[in-house]
Amino acid sequence: MTQAPVKVAVTGAAGQIGYSLLFRIASGELLGPDQPIELRLLEITPALKALEGVVMELDDCAFPLLSKVEIGDDATKVFDGVNLAMLVGARPRTAGMERGDLLSANGAIFTAQGKALNAVAADDIKVLVTGNPANTNALIAQSNAPDIPAERFNALTRLDHNRAISQVANKLGVPVTEVKKLTIWGNHSATQYPDLFNAEVNGKNAAAAVNDEAWIENDFIPTVAKRGAAIIAARGSSSAASAANATIEHMHDWALGTPEGDWVSMAVPSDGSYGVPEGVISSFPCTVSAEGVYSIVQGLSINDFSRAKIDASVAELVDEKKAVTELGLI
Ligand code: NAD
Ligand code: LMR
Repeated sequence: MTQAPVKVAVTGAAGQIGYSLLFRIASGELLGPDQPIELRLLEITPALKALEGVVMELDDCAFPLLSKVEIGDDATKVFDGVNLAMLVGARPRTAGMERGDLLSANGAIFTAQGKALNAVAADDIKVLVTGNPANTNALIAQSNAPDIPAERFNALTRLDHNRAISQVANKLGVPVTEVKKLTIWGNHSATQYPDLFNAEVNGKNAAAAVNDEAWIENDFIPTVAKRGAAIIAARGSSSAASAANATIEHMHDWALGTPEGDWVSMAVPSDGSYGVPEGVISSFPCTVSAEGVYSIVQGLSINDFSRAKIDASVAELVDEKKAVTELGLI
């Protein structure tokens, strides 16, 4: 092995997403089969014993790419020199809650972790927030890390993106690989807007292929937007393996680039594109260069239906920002 290990931090590493995430990172699914990885795992003190057990299991896999694992409850030690950070650790919602109800419970985690990343992360740090409410937690972390460029803070809407692809593929009876250019706009919440009007199936417009506006409005959009709650109702706990999968896919594409002819949904700091105000972290269609720099896809047409849906989700992000400002978190 000639390449230096990439240092990958995962928070909440003893949690249920962590249990699905770590083994796949260590096996090479994050950065490919030639890139050694050093794992830096952060947990709260009472969970460190359970985390030691997870590390024993990582050892027992004898992953060739896993050069080292460090664990701890001190973010400034665990994040020291990290290149990629997956901020998963946060309380999940339970039945009857919206993700935004977690703001006061989880927001403070991201002030401390933003400060720690600012102090000790590597210069090329990329931070992906999965812990809910992901968009606004990412904004909190970003606001507390003034020396790290704002665009290095993303939030996860790739799970929603994958859910939407799967729903439309099922509806049309096509393989998921035929669905391209799907976009999730806005917040990772019940207001998110999965956009079929700019998506393609087999190279043709997806909304036209579906040809059923009632299904789009009354079935597709709410099914995708409320899928997290449906999983909590069915499983008794929130999505874990699919969330870990999406976390890996987002970070993989952000590090290594997106394929030609398609884009992915990433919640990124708004630059004002599509009328989304700067100062919130909102989901957009994005491509990523082979050097790991993302761009928001420009020039898509937004019809009146889409405009209203995007505006509603962005208004929620603006409200969440106001709430965390009042809580003194940013
Ligand atoms: P979990 O309760 O199983 O695990 C969370 C872990 O985080 C626990 O082990 C806990 O000890 C740890 N933790 C809490 N505070 C911490 C801190 N300050 N530093 C480090 N670790 C800390 O939860 P989970 O199912 O793994 O979900 C984690 C988060 O991800 C939740 O907020 C959940 O809602 C969210 N989630 C987001 C998406 C998404 O698409 N964005 C999808 C699924 C879940
Ligand atoms: C999801 O979308 O599955 C997660 O955000 C968990 C949740 O609370 O819905």
